Amino acid sequence: MLTTILRASGLVVFLSLVPASEAFSFDVHQFFETKCGRCHQHSGDLARQNLFIDGGVLRSRESGDDIRLFLPDHHGHPDPAETAALYETFIWQVRSGAMFKTKCAICHVRASDLARQSLVRDDDGVRGRYTGVDLGEFLVHHGRIDDDNVNFFVQLFRRLAPKQIPF
Ligand code: HEC
Ligand code: HEC
Repeated sequence: MLTTILRASGLVVFLSLVPASEAFSFDVHQFFETKCGRCHQHSGDLARQNLFIDGGVLRSRESGDDIRLFLPDHHGHPDPAETAALYETFIWQVRSGAMFKTKCAICHVRASDLARQSLVRDDDGVRGRYTGVDLGEFLVHHGRIDDDNVNFFVQLFRRLAPKQIPF
């Protein structure tokens, strides 16, 4: 996935200088805030409310079309690399939203609230804000999920959890 974006983008030089995952999420986030934030508050809410996955493709609920057809003609006019990066972000957000809804939302309302209230991340990973327990270890005994899903949720909360502020 990332390699596709890298190949399609002029960001290759920039990305090769810093850890790719950090640069990738930071970049899209920044882009969204600058170019789209005037009209859309939160990319995750936008994606989950308006888009769905069908046949592995992310589509508009309204038109049913692949959202990559819509984006370049929409406000902000993302170029092919930006469209590819937005697409990967949105599809991840729709997938993780659906997963959270099925597995966790009976007891937790929103993933982003849970992350903000209960978790912190640092260079080593993501852990309980008050318990200090590693999230991966915690989830093995929590929420009735298998190992693949433990990894999935660790990835998800690594994106959502606020950074640990040193005392
Ligand atoms: C000037 C305001 C404005 C800006 C800036 C803007 N949008 Fe929108 N966007 C809208 C409005 C209004 C709608 C709903 C009506 C429509 O479908 O055009 C919308 C709808 C959408 C949808 C849902 C489309 C669908 O078919 O349901 C997506 C996805 C989207 N915008 C993404 C973006 C992205 C990404 C950016 C930045 C590159 C962006 N928008 C910038 C106003 C804006
Ligand atoms: C049956 C209810 C229930 C379900 C389902 C559930 N949780 Fe929880 N969760 C709780 C309760 C209650 C707490 C607070 C007490 C505790 O720490 O066990 C909690 C706490 C947490 C915490 C805070 C941990 C900490 O160290 O403070 C995280 C993170 C979490 N849950 C994630 C998840 C995820 C991800 C899922 C879905 C895979 C999930 N939970 C499913 C009830 C649930």
